[in-house]
Amino acid sequence: MTPETLDKLPEILRRDLDENLCVCNEVTKRKIIDAIESGATTLAMVQRQTYASDGNGCCKRQVTRLIECLTTPEDSSQD
Ligand code: FES
Repeated sequence: MTPETLDKLPEILRRDLDENLCVCNEVTKRKIIDAIESGATTLAMVQRQTYASDGNGCCKRQVTRLIECLTTPEDSSQD
């Protein structure tokens, strides 16, 4: 993850990068941010690459929030 990527996140979302954001599937916030950085700009794409939010989906809102912070609206219209 580049410093530029981290700069796009609000302070509160830069914490606990190595904690599991998706507890159900043990996916760290860092892995999710890396996936978004490398082109996963929708929830479905992040899900396919990392398994975060796959299953009962209780972390969907947090994953979506990260996508919103790290992508431009143009990016997220692509799948
Ligand atoms: S915490 Fe991610 S699916 Fe439950």
